[in-house]
Amino acid sequence: MLNETIRTIMKRYSCRAFTEKMPSDEDLQTITRAALAAPSGVNRQPWRIIVVKNKDIIKEMDDEGMKILAAMPDKSTYERIMSRSGSLFYGAPCIMIISITKAVPAGAEMFDCAIVAENIALAATSMGIDNLICGLAVLPFAGEKGAEFGRRLGFHEGYDMGLGVLLGYAKETGGKPHDLDPAKISFVE
Ligand SMILES: Cc1cc2nc3c(=O)[nH]c(=O)nc-3n(C[C@H](O)[C@H](O)[C@H](O)COP(=O)(O)O)c2cc1C
Repeated sequence: MLNETIRTIMKRYSCRAFTEKMPSDEDLQTITRAALAAPSGVNRQPWRIIVVKNKDIIKEMDDEGMKILAAMPDKSTYERIMSRSGSLFYGAPCIMIISITKAVPAGAEMFDCAIVAENIALAATSMGIDNLICGLAVLPFAGEKGAEFGRRLGFHEGYDMGLGVLLGYAKETGGKPHDLDPAKISFVE
């Protein structure tokens, strides 16, 4: 039976065209609480969540990320983004940046980071806020302006960029998630 939680999970999809409308501070607060509720290995909680609502910083990070993408030898991702919107962040008015600190064993923090991202995405979906988990949000932090962005966003000592989650409202309703592939499931009894 589909309960409310399963319905939310099934409804979530990646939004790639946002209006300028900002989610309310109250809703953003609720989403950050859901983020903090994520499980993590040995409860290390290796994250800090930064809610970026500043239009100028978002645009600067977008431009820098696209510049880095355009300069990469493999142009396929750049061309894919250009064919969609020409924007890394699809016009989203808000990005929740998940910054992370290294775990032992190294790399384990990315599991924790991804679970936080999904908590954010599902909480947002349940509240009618469209969203997209954005791995390419690392790009602006990978170039010469990376440290500067980290400073402006208030990254804590020892924390690096993990994932971004774009939040806002879709330009067009009716966005659909990917098709499910039942062939990927097997049971051993
Ligand atoms: C870790 C992760 C990183 C992602 N990074 C990006 C990204 O940078 N840009 C983008 O457009 N979509 C990104 N996506 C969204 C995926 O492309 C999307 O989840 C997938 O195509 C399935 O579609 P759906 O989310 O609409 O069901 C990312 C998803 C995940 C889980």
